[in-house]
Amino acid sequence: MQIEDIILTYEKDLKLVEEFLDKEQNSYVKLIPQISSHIIASGGKRLRPLLLLISSDLFKYCEERRHVLAAVIEFIHTASLLHDDVIDHANIRRGRAAANKLWGNTASILVGDYLYATAFRLLTEDGDPVVQRIISSATTTMVEGETIQFIKSGDAEITEQEYLSIIEKKTAILMSASCALGAALAGQPQESIRTLSSIGLKIGVSFQVTDDTLDYVGVKEEFGKNIGMDLREGKMTLPLIWALKKGSLAEKEAVIKIIKHKSAEDEDILTIIDFIKNYGGIEYALGKAAQYIGEAKALIKSFPDSSARKYLLSIADYVLNRNN
Ligand code: FPP
Ligand code: MG
Repeated sequence: MQIEDIILTYEKDLKLVEEFLDKEQNSYVKLIPQISSHIIASGGKRLRPLLLLISSDLFKYCEERRHVLAAVIEFIHTASLLHDDVIDHANIRRGRAAANKLWGNTASILVGDYLYATAFRLLTEDGDPVVQRIISSATTTMVEGETIQFIKSGDAEITEQEYLSIIEKKTAILMSASCALGAALAGQPQESIRTLSSIGLKIGVSFQVTDDTLDYVGVKEEFGKNIGMDLREGKMTLPLIWALKKGSLAEKEAVIKIIKHKSAEDEDILTIIDFIKNYGGIEYALGKAAQYIGEAKALIKSFPDSSARKYLLSIADYVLNRNN
């Protein structure tokens, strides 16, 4: 089953989520909805809302609240992207000019703050302390992950373990929370919540590893972002970490020189892409992503067969095989 089929199956639910997103971003300060709708309506796959909806379906929970909470998660995700694009000096997001390029850093940060605050207002209105704990703890973890990444920027000594810990925190934790919420809303015991949390975390790690691989070998028009950006930002990701471990000392020193030189030329980026490819960095990273998806699928299969279980399995496959 393709992701498009799942989106179609959840069309009615996703429409309700969209309605909440639309309504709640609508400040009387018109610049806010103008900027937020630029990114919210830019064709994201709504992967996190889908994970929440499907996870709650796994336990046959389908009350109205889940649409609000799916919107809360999407708001936090969108806020983090607005801030992330400022941090990363991004030019493009989802194939369109990034908000920071169109309206500047200040406006992007403020609109990110607005969406983030809106998410927490909705969370307060929902009033469930279990749900509040899952979402607030995921959000603080995301900031910690992004901060560790900043500290480790340009550090050629970074280990695979440190990298995996960063992406678990900055990316995977929100997917983990999305899945855990499905079980929590349905009033499932801690053990189920933990299993769903683990499924989301593994899917999320795989998502970021494939994202980091596409940053080297993706097609700009499909990926919706410029290629080679991570290197330009000094972001040390798995394909490079692997090649640095395998390459000679001389090669390593040459690569470090390029990374330290903040404004790397296209030619330098191509040199590093070749270096990564020569040492099998792309295959290694994709193998690692596949390993996480394998583990996630094994956990998904611990639940009895159902449509929701099939959808979760298909989402896991999609995350591994996507090109955008
Ligand atoms: C994208 O990573 C960014 C994230 C996954 C998380 C960013 C988190 C923060 C800025 C902190 C949390 C902030 C709020 C408001 C909740 P990437 O840069 O590797 O991917 P990209 O290529 O898509 O930009
Ligand atoms: Mg970024």
